Amino acid sequence: MKISENIVYIGVNDHKTDLFEGQYAVPNGMAYNSYVILDEKTAVMDTVEAGFAEEWLANLDKALEGRKPDYLIVQHMEPDHSGSITEFLKKYPDTKVAASAKAFAMLKAFYKADISDKGIVVADKDTLSLGDTTLTFVTAPMVHWPEVIMTYDSRDKVFFSADAFGKFGALDADEDWACEARRYYFGIVGKYGVQVQNLLKKVSGFEISTICPLHGPVLDNDLDYYLSLYNTWSKYEAESKGVFIAYTSVYGNTKNAVMMLADALREKGCEKVTVSDLAREDMAECVEDAFRYDRIVLATTTYNGDMFPFMKDFISRLSEHGFRSRKVGLMENGTWAPTAAKAMKAMLEKCGDISFCENEVKIMSSVDDASKAQLAALADELC
Ligand code: FEO
Repeated sequence: MKISENIVYIGVNDHKTDLFEGQYAVPNGMAYNSYVILDEKTAVMDTVEAGFAEEWLANLDKALEGRKPDYLIVQHMEPDHSGSITEFLKKYPDTKVAASAKAFAMLKAFYKADISDKGIVVADKDTLSLGDTTLTFVTAPMVHWPEVIMTYDSRDKVFFSADAFGKFGALDADEDWACEARRYYFGIVGKYGVQVQNLLKKVSGFEISTICPLHGPVLDNDLDYYLSLYNTWSKYEAESKGVFIAYTSVYGNTKNAVMMLADALREKGCEKVTVSDLAREDMAECVEDAFRYDRIVLATTTYNGDMFPFMKDFISRLSEHGFRSRKVGLMENGTWAPTAAKAMKAMLEKCGDISFCENEVKIMSSVDDASKAQLAALADELC
């Protein structure tokens, strides 16, 4: 696949991995993207996960058409991109490797590889000429690791964005970009909104016609759409108006109350109401929805004087990923001493700028007239 006259896609699709990074379900696989730039000199943009080295090296060989790679640019050292560096250097020992100083230290730590004799340490705004093509490097710490650099090719107006603007899913998966890019964003870099904002400011001076990420499709039209979503997500602003209700339920009574609230919100004409059972649905998808909507409701049972474990896990994940600036409604269930609302509130208070609904719902075992009235009041307050 040609990205431009001089740039060829040489990545691979992974349909073997079930959990990306050991935690994210990827039913439609994963793409490890890599590119080669062909000018007077040639440059390879990142490698791929180790298990795909052979396929990737064959793609590279074909794209090079008998030429040798002059440079390997290592933008990110996470093994899904660095896993084939040692195989590459066995085949092409004369290639120079350009990366940040931190990346060279990681190369030694991961692969016991000391390549100081062929290493070119690059820093922010450094350039590398390939002939008519000049590559400008941009440091992007914590998007997604501290050593990350990204690369702008001014000749073709191509921005190589490392993990940024990537998504879950192999390139042969026919699926919506935003859904899997949002789940990927909040899972992978959600905590680092400030750093993503810094990156967006840095690249705003570049004229970009194509974004080449290390995962997901190459983006070459309506780039404002993708840039604007990244801006919204990294500022922790809600992308959509609506209410996301996340719940756990032991015997169905909390679920029953949640469904009553969802019905009431829909009857009121609330923009969008989404309901998820935290015990059964993909937790990363639930985290994504919590960040997506401007209002969330958390409903759970009291358990061991605290809250049900799936809810505790969920709020921990929200907190770890920088959840903030949302309106939150709380619903608790308990048969003798409900404490879940207090426990949820204590966890969420550690997140920034959370406003709690005045109306809470307390269910004593199952919905009664009192909790029905509280549900109606909460629905009024939310919508
Ligand atoms: Fe795709 Fe952070 O590695």
